[in-house]
Amino acid sequence: MRNLFDPRPKSSRSELYDRAEELALLDEHIDKPLIVVLGVRRIGKTSLVKSFLEPYNGLYVDMRGAATRADLYRRLSESLSEGIGKLRRLLESIRGVRIGEFGVEIKWKGADSVSFLGLLEELNRKGRLVVAIDEIQEAKPPVSAELRTALAYAYDHLDNITIVLSGSALRLLRGFMGVEDPESPLYGRYFVEVDVRRFTREESLDFLRLGFRQEGVEPPSGVLEEAVDFFDGIPGWLVLFGRAYVDGVRDVGAIKEQAVSMALDELGRLSAREKAVLKAIAEGARSWGQVRRYVEERLGEAIPKSTLTRIIEKLESLSIIKDYEFLDGVYREAAKRL
Ligand SMILES: Nc1ncnc2c1ncn2[C@@H]1O[C@H](COP(=O)(O)OP(=O)(O)O)[C@@H](O)[C@H]1O
Ligand SMILES: [Mg+2]
Repeated sequence: MRNLFDPRPKSSRSELYDRAEELALLDEHIDKPLIVVLGVRRIGKTSLVKSFLEPYNGLYVDMRGAATRADLYRRLSESLSEGIGKLRRLLESIRGVRIGEFGVEIKWKGADSVSFLGLLEELNRKGRLVVAIDEIQEAKPPVSAELRTALAYAYDHLDNITIVLSGSALRLLRGFMGVEDPESPLYGRYFVEVDVRRFTREESLDFLRLGFRQEGVEPPSGVLEEAVDFFDGIPGWLVLFGRAYVDGVRDVGAIKEQAVSMALDELGRLSAREKAVLKAIAEGARSWGQVRRYVEERLGEAIPKSTLTRIIEKLESLSIIKDYEFLDGVYREAAKRL
């Protein structure tokens, strides 16, 4: 079993800290066609989903950066290979699928090939399967289109398949599923929503104490308090902190800096206007008017109303802010430096 401070996503229920409620909700809805797991970055979506799959016949695929059909099928074959212990029976005698010495091979082009949809249809015939797709909103065309069509078909026709999508809130819903877009094949479909909540202060402290005990390190309690104040109930940051401390970084300030600079790297990809909006909010702007004043002053330009509204919506859809507040305090600190 891996320690709490292992930076990789957890993949078994015994490795997971808490999440009893979320797991119970997922287990309860295991026979529904579509479950969506939502939460900010580092809150533990991937860990929850992977651990949830443990007792089931399941497939986990991460779609970040999947841009070509070759990417899609490589990832599918890696996932099937990982799960071969449990999936062998389901995968036997499916056209286009070969269980080789080094894993599961998928032929996706030409004679005797199989598409993602075709594979789901075959698997559906063999028995129950949970198909978990992580960060699906990060897939690019043509992969995104192929996924969307296949999942809409599975939703309507493949009763043995439960689809679990995980990712950051609105971006996943609006962007990929198109729940508000009548043109989207997934428009109007009912789904179960599981929100991965942040740890309370008590849970965060407990998480750190357990993690340090596993590593045989005992930091002064002031250090734990300081870390919990700053890292705000987000397990990914608590793990970063615990790992760094155990590895010998005894200066909490230095670990905070490391986290802030990771967040700053991510924010660096935004446009100048988007950055100015985040800085405005980090500096205390609490309304549309206050943000506008700050941004116009800073950039020295007049910004059309609709443009500013669109920028705020985009930042919300990326799960960085909501209602003029940061969802993660580390990003607020980073935004102050933009
Ligand atoms: N419930 C949990 N128990 C133990 N570690 C966790 C838990 N949730 C998240 N982590 C750890 O936090 C980090 C981020 O988790 P991850 O599942 O990758 O988050 P997300 O997918 O939401 O970005 C990883 O190091 C993971 O091991
Ligand atoms: Mg993840």
